[in-house]
Order: sequence, then C-alpha cells, then structure tokens
Amino acid sequence: MLDGTVITCSAPVNIAVIKYWGKRDDELILPVNSSLSVTLHQDQLKTTTTIACSRDFQEDRIWINGREEDINQSRLQSCLREMRRLARKRSGDGDPAHGVAGLSHKVHICSVNNFPTAAGLASSASGYACLVYTLSRLFGVEGELSAVARQGSGSACRSMYGGFVQWKIGERADGKDSLAEQVQPETHWPELRVLVLVVNAQRKHIGSTSGMQTSVKTSSLLKHRAECLVSGQMDKMMRAINTKDFSAFGELTMQDSNQFHATCLDTYPPIFYLSDVSRQIINLVHCYNHHYREIKVAYTFDAGPNAVIFTLQEHLPEFVQVVRYFFPPESNEEQFLKGLSVDSVPVSESLKAAIGMEPVANGISYIISTKVKVPGSSMWGLSGTLATGNLLFMGPFP
Ligand code: DP6
Repeated sequence: MLDGTVITCSAPVNIAVIKYWGKRDDELILPVNSSLSVTLHQDQLKTTTTIACSRDFQEDRIWINGREEDINQSRLQSCLREMRRLARKRSGDGDPAHGVAGLSHKVHICSVNNFPTAAGLASSASGYACLVYTLSRLFGVEGELSAVARQGSGSACRSMYGGFVQWKIGERADGKDSLAEQVQPETHWPELRVLVLVVNAQRKHIGSTSGMQTSVKTSSLLKHRAECLVSGQMDKMMRAINTKDFSAFGELTMQDSNQFHATCLDTYPPIFYLSDVSRQIINLVHCYNHHYREIKVAYTFDAGPNAVIFTLQEHLPEFVQVVRYFFPPESNEEQFLKGLSVDSVPVSESLKAAIGMEPVANGISYIISTKVKVPGSSMWGLSGTLATGNLLFMGPFP
C-alpha cells in the first residue's frame, strides 16, 4: 500500500576527475566520453529528499530548497515515468510479494541541499540520484538504477555508487549500456582528503547542459578529446587509483580539469568558468607542489569557479594553513573552515616565499573539509506515514 507513505533518503555529491562534457544524445543523456569520479562523504555535502504518496494528491509536485518548481520539466518527467514503469513491471512479475497498490497515486517531492545550489558544486548530481533512489524505496524497485538517474542529469548516475566510480560511455543507441560502475569501494583509499574552496557561491552564468551543447556544436578540441584522449586518460587514472599512486592521480586530475576548461575556451563563443581567484588557486597549487618537488595537492574545477582540492591526510593541515594565509577571510575567521576539523600547523617562511603571491583578502568565502564517502553512510533514510491531510513537512525542509 503506497497511500500515505513517506520516505526520506539522502544522496552524495561526486566530483569528476575525468570530466563528462558533451552529449551524443540529449534526450537520453548519453555522453561523448566516459568519465570517472570520487563520491564524497554525505556529512558535508548531500541532498535529502522526502517523497510522500497519497490518494488525496491531485497532481505530482516538487519543492526544491523550499520553493515549488515546475514538475513538468522533461528530466523530472523522465525519471518519474521510468521509475513508475519499473515499479509496474515489478508488480506485474507474478510474485504477489511485489504487488504495489496505489502506483497511480500522485507524489509530492521535497528536496534540499546542505550546500549552495548551482554554484558549480554538482547539485544536480546528488539531486537526481536522490530523487531516483527515494522513488525506488517508495515503489520497491531494486537493481541497476544509474540509467534512470542519468536521464535526470548525466553526472547523477555516478552518485548512485560510493567510492571511485566510472560512467561508461556505452555503445547502444538506447543507452542501456551507458551505466555507472564502481571501480574501487569506499574503503579503498582512506587517506584521501577533499577540500572544496568556495570561491563564489552565486549562481553560475552558463549551466553545464547548455554549455556542453555549444561545445559539442563548435569545439574541435572536444571532438579530439572524446575520440582520441579520454580513453587513455581513463586507463591511466584507473591504474593510479588502483595502486593509490597520489602523484599520478593528482597530475591526471589537474590535466583533465585543464583540458576540460581548454575545451570551454575552444567553444564558440567561449565559456569562462574559472575566475581570477580560480587561477590564483591553480598557481598556488603548482608552486606548493614545486616547492616540495612532489605532487602533494591537486585541483579540479567543474562548471564554476570553485576549486575542489584532493590531497592526503598528512599534507592537509599545512595546505589549509597556506590557503588561509594567501586568501585571508576579512571576518568570520572561525566560520572559514567548515566540515571535518583540521589541525593547526605553522607555515614556514620559505614555503610562503616559494609561493610568492600577494595575499588576496576575501578571495575564498569558505572551505568545506570532507573526504570520500564511507561505507555504512547509506542513502537510505527514515520512512513513515503521512497522516491524511497533514502536509506540513512539504514546506521548507528543516
Ligand atoms: C563539468 O551532469 O550537470 O561537472 O547531464 O546536462 O545535467 P547534464 O550535465 P551535468 O554535467 C556535469 C559536468 C561537469 C563534469 C562532470 O561532473 O563530469
């Protein structure tokens, strides 16, 4: 019985180290190249979605971060239609245990992020992964669901798994083999640490969907990257991850990020996602690594100016201190570092001199310190029943 059921689940953000940029099929969301990402811990970055189902609901509705949005958007419709189809298929498989009464009832969906939406922090990935996952719990659908999440947002398919995840390009025109797959589990590389340097939390100007459409139409670098470069980069990246070779992992991550932004620049008219502060961060990372003659820290940037930094636990305290020194917050000193705590250590004068840039006050709004999603922090949350007529929870989610 679905009538009156309420389900809440959460889903993680993922950060691509080999970027997805460009579709060969806009409707099914099929990519022009495979991609690979790291799924992040949910304590710092996640989407939480509550879905209620009731015979009293007149229509499907959705609220995102407390504001009602248009449920008729084609990507939302694809996910709802596909999940209901899978649920019907399952209830029609002859097993009475799988019978789901009330599949025709409407749903009310309430989704919130604990981080700024559309700031280049992949909110669509955790958002659609969470929508599909919560619907799967509501409808009792099991199995491979990354193909459904992919139809919400390409990068969402990778948030369906923890650890290190690849999204295989696939060959079929119907997209059935364009799926996400775990490369290594959550436990594989516990020393890996992640910092999100929030440069500018305002909404981005050109969304990834329209940005990549223009790139596909106009960039010959995109074509070359997809046809000749990515598959080799994927192989090397998987080797680096499998052997926990940070130096190789970091170098490949930075090179792929740079190649993606070069593709954006090769797009006509060009797309600029990086800001001056993004470029200062890139410079700082290279000077830091050069000082130690070793790749200790790596950056990657998505469709926005925020940097995501990968490093190992042992290097984290010093690097955070370096960021604080060169991007000093004007106020709110104690709010500058959010998430996992980081020890305070001094920064040597020789390191400051080696970086050699002028401090940029307020260049970075805040840092989120996090790590790879850990096992056991499942996407499955609580479930309950909706007292008929009680729609209070549909307001802005606490
Ligand atoms: C730069 O998944 O947001 O973050 O499929 O159109 O929804 P749509 O695009 P989206 O693109 C993400 C692009 C990226 C790189 C990546 O995550 O691989």
